[in-house]
Amino acid sequence: MSFKGLDRNRLPRHVAIIMDGNGRWAKLRGKSRIEGHRRGRASVRAVVEMSRRLGIPYLSLYAFSAENWLRPKDEVSALMSLLEHYLTVEEPKMMRHGIRLLAIGDKDRLPATVQCTLERTIEATKENKHLTVILALSYSGRSDIVRTVQEIAAKVKEGEYAPEDIDETLISAHTETGSLPDPDLLIRTSGEMRISNFFLWQIPYTELYVTPILWPDFRDKEYLQALTEFQRRQRRFGRTDEQIAKNIPRTDRSQ
Ligand code: FPP
Repeated sequence: MSFKGLDRNRLPRHVAIIMDGNGRWAKLRGKSRIEGHRRGRASVRAVVEMSRRLGIPYLSLYAFSAENWLRPKDEVSALMSLLEHYLTVEEPKMMRHGIRLLAIGDKDRLPATVQCTLERTIEATKENKHLTVILALSYSGRSDIVRTVQEIAAKVKEGEYAPEDIDETLISAHTETGSLPDPDLLIRTSGEMRISNFFLWQIPYTELYVTPILWPDFRDKEYLQALTEFQRRQRRFGRTDEQIAKNIPRTDRSQ
């Protein structure tokens, strides 16, 4: 695979992906939605492997939203077993390639067997250094903010912080992604122009890339295209072109 046109020194540090379109992919082929998710899992493998090869340090995948619990029961359980199977099969590969797994979201709602497999994989991979894959499971951006506010409010009540200590850095540190840099690039497949309650606090200056490609068709070539497009963007972080030319530093806190 050629990386022509891609500047390896200007890759995003953190890529986040809303993997959408498995159902439509399946419908177009007269297959079950579950078959769409199964093919989607192969795309997950592709972006994880490519991120590792390129040296992108953080990759967040919106695998299951808090709202996805409302889907038909058999689809939810198929997604859970795909996830469990994925973790079991991929763990040795994660170890070989130095990939660390993290999970964000309301994990308590996941079936006990999935929680168990997830915890085992997180524990086994915790010292791996090359790439961190963050799976968003039963995740809701707003719930993350609500929980963060509750946690900070409790600390204020206990006297650990004064209200005026609350700033962007403190809030960021209390979100579920507190230890990670904000995403530089957010990819959404299947053409929908929405954030769908994924990262909300974390994306003030994230570059958005929406492609009509359905998730099961999003593989190496499509990922490299998204990264090439990212490199074409001029990230101003609120500054003018002139200020950028003069190297005037960013003042936003999302660095
Ligand atoms: C959206 O397609 C996709 C999902 C809800 C789940 C993503 C799951 C996978 C890629 C499979 C397994 C995941 C891992 C991490 C191994 P959709 O069903 O909303 O598609 P539609 O909008 O066309 O109906």
